[in-house]
Amino acid sequence: MEKAWWKEAVVYQIYPRSFMDSNGDGIGDLNGITSRLDYLKELGIDVIWLSPVYQSPNDDNGYDISDYQAIMQEFGTMEDFDKMIEGIHARGMRLVMDLVVNHTSDEHAWFLESRKSKDNPYRDYYIWREGKDGQAPNNWGSYFSGSAWQHDDATDMYYLHLFSKKQPDLNWENPKVREEVFSMMNWWCAEKGIDGFRMDVINLISKQPGLPDGPKAPKELYGYANCANGPRVHEFLKEMNQKVLSKYELITVGEAPGVTVEEAKRYAGFDEKELNMVFQFEHVGLDGGEYGKWTDKRVPLTEFKKVMSKWQTELDGQAWNSLYLGNHDQPRSISRFGDDSPEYREVCAKMLATCLHMMQGTPYVYQGEEFGMTNVPFDDISEVRDIESINAYREMSEAGLISREDMLRFICLKGRDNARTPVQWDDSENAGFTTGTPWIKVNPNYKQINAKAALEDKNSIFYYYQKLIALRKEEPVMVYGHYALLEPDHESLYVYTRSLDEQKLLVICNFTKEPAGYEVPAEFAGAQILIGNYQRDKVEGTIELKPYEAIVLKK
Ligand code: GLC
Ligand code: CA
Repeated sequence: MEKAWWKEAVVYQIYPRSFMDSNGDGIGDLNGITSRLDYLKELGIDVIWLSPVYQSPNDDNGYDISDYQAIMQEFGTMEDFDKMIEGIHARGMRLVMDLVVNHTSDEHAWFLESRKSKDNPYRDYYIWREGKDGQAPNNWGSYFSGSAWQHDDATDMYYLHLFSKKQPDLNWENPKVREEVFSMMNWWCAEKGIDGFRMDVINLISKQPGLPDGPKAPKELYGYANCANGPRVHEFLKEMNQKVLSKYELITVGEAPGVTVEEAKRYAGFDEKELNMVFQFEHVGLDGGEYGKWTDKRVPLTEFKKVMSKWQTELDGQAWNSLYLGNHDQPRSISRFGDDSPEYREVCAKMLATCLHMMQGTPYVYQGEEFGMTNVPFDDISEVRDIESINAYREMSEAGLISREDMLRFICLKGRDNARTPVQWDDSENAGFTTGTPWIKVNPNYKQINAKAALEDKNSIFYYYQKLIALRKEEPVMVYGHYALLEPDHESLYVYTRSLDEQKLLVICNFTKEPAGYEVPAEFAGAQILIGNYQRDKVEGTIELKPYEAIVLKK
């Protein structure tokens, strides 16, 4: 397999609103990030992916952009940005920007023009349709509840918004839209010196011709807007690659809800000239139910193994995986896939990190995950800030589908704000995130769980991540090795191997708090213990895994 720096890299995601506030207004900002670069360097990561910092009215916390070439005032200035990127590069790290071009904000200049009249030069930048019998043009629902169509009085027509009504979808069929987007991307690369893009819902940009009604499950309120992997998406991405990406040394990852392995091979195939990798969603869909994510179902380990293994083996040699358990849209990984109780939180977080980082692909660490931040006990819906959760709470309870009590409980388990409370830097007021009033509540467990405490404890989750990240630089098998699953039906152990030429790793993870027996394959007799979350001298013959134990052997 061809080597590439982005295959060997570890990416750290920053959600700027919640990372670090430098001026006491309660909102994280660019200078706050700059002040913490040494911390990230110490962790050892190679790349920072920054969630959007562009000018935005913040209907969806910056994923609704009103100017792609300006910095959101709350986050600072373009000078602050330049200082930040300089600091990142000076430390040998790189910067990935979020590219949100499936939609803009309704306050973007293009949309302000577009909505004015049917013959405005910007009209076709967006997707406008006539209503049908006084109703929306089709049955598509928005990801954030309600119809995906908004009626606009000025021209008595509807515009499409797959997300909030303040996020109108761009019309990628229009070549002018593509040129605008590509020239903006070139500006960030050539003028600002950024090192890559994480592309927001990039597989939704090509809509089905004719915009047909989507299938409607019996209890669903709206039809499913079937826009994933549309007919022209690969053509658009190849054009983007040719006109922008291929001109620089970038790392690119496309967010792709609903992507299949077959499709991923096209987006991220080594010979396809589109993207380096995609974020797939199958493993984070395993705890979904009748009403999507709003349930208390847990992920069954055997299914998790099956999905992860499918991606590992089927992309091998053909395309590249991204590896993640958490991000700004997902609950905290330790709470969701593991055990966040005081007794097991640390050991379990290390086990999950081992299981993920030992796989083939580029690992992503979400802010706070490196010291085990957990889900948040929201006591009332008024504490929740996320538009998705707030809208779903209203829609589900008003339709009588899920009670308010259950919705709040599900939001505490699955809502996006679990990942968006301030990073817990220390045990001082507001967890050291701000001297002001934070824009969203701080997780009350910050006195026990914070970065400072982790840095002071040689056995902490932080140093375990540091070791995992360092190992990646020393062990090519960790990056390029082939993956094979062992014990597929075992209900508490996840065991797999990685192999590259003569090198071979055995990864054993106990996903439960019950001890579990395991017979180590004979070929690993006398093997070295590469890393593990308990102290052990040797691992041979039949062993008993301790609660949430992880062991990696190297032969
Ligand atoms: C992506 C982002 C999410 C955002 C949505 C609309 O899924 O990760 O945060 O709300 O796109 O831009
Ligand atoms: Ca601030």
